[in-house]
Amino acid sequence: MKKTQIITTVYEYDSIDELSKEDQALVNQAKDAAHRSYAPYSKFNVGAALLLENGEMVQGNNQENSAYPSGLCAERVAVFYANAKYPDVPVKAIAITSRTNGSFLETPVPPCGSCRQVLLETEDRYNQPIRVILCGENKIRIVESIKQLLPLFFDKDMLNE
Ligand code: THU
Repeated sequence: MKKTQIITTVYEYDSIDELSKEDQALVNQAKDAAHRSYAPYSKFNVGAALLLENGEMVQGNNQENSAYPSGLCAERVAVFYANAKYPDVPVKAIAITSRTNGSFLETPVPPCGSCRQVLLETEDRYNQPIRVILCGENKIRIVESIKQLLPLFFDKDMLNE
């Protein structure tokens, strides 16, 4: 019996210094955005920054609400803002960072399932992969496409089958 293995590829780095200057700049934008997140309920401040094809960087952060589900994650705030402002410009990369108790987390925080689905839609929309940089203080994880974090994904092709 032949078994097929589905393997995803995640690159790990121990320090931000090992990243390219462009990735470092994006991480710094994400960190900057985390400081302005509105998270009075969870006190978990997430910052995201997108690099667009036109070279522009767009920031987002989590926006919470007393009616909990009405809030939105940092990644989706950033993507929807970029799509609203530059609907014709592809997204090349996203950096994500998180803070709690006054400091950035040591481990990289991966995006939630809904944010993965929205990033997948954005890849489909512009027909190009999005590099995802998950930045913790002690470890950085990078995937070259959101599909690496969502291997068995549902997308528009399923609707047309
Ligand atoms: N959060 C994000 O902003 N991104 C994620 O991918 C995971 C969770 C936010 C949502 C909520 O404001 C807080 O973190 C705690 O879940």
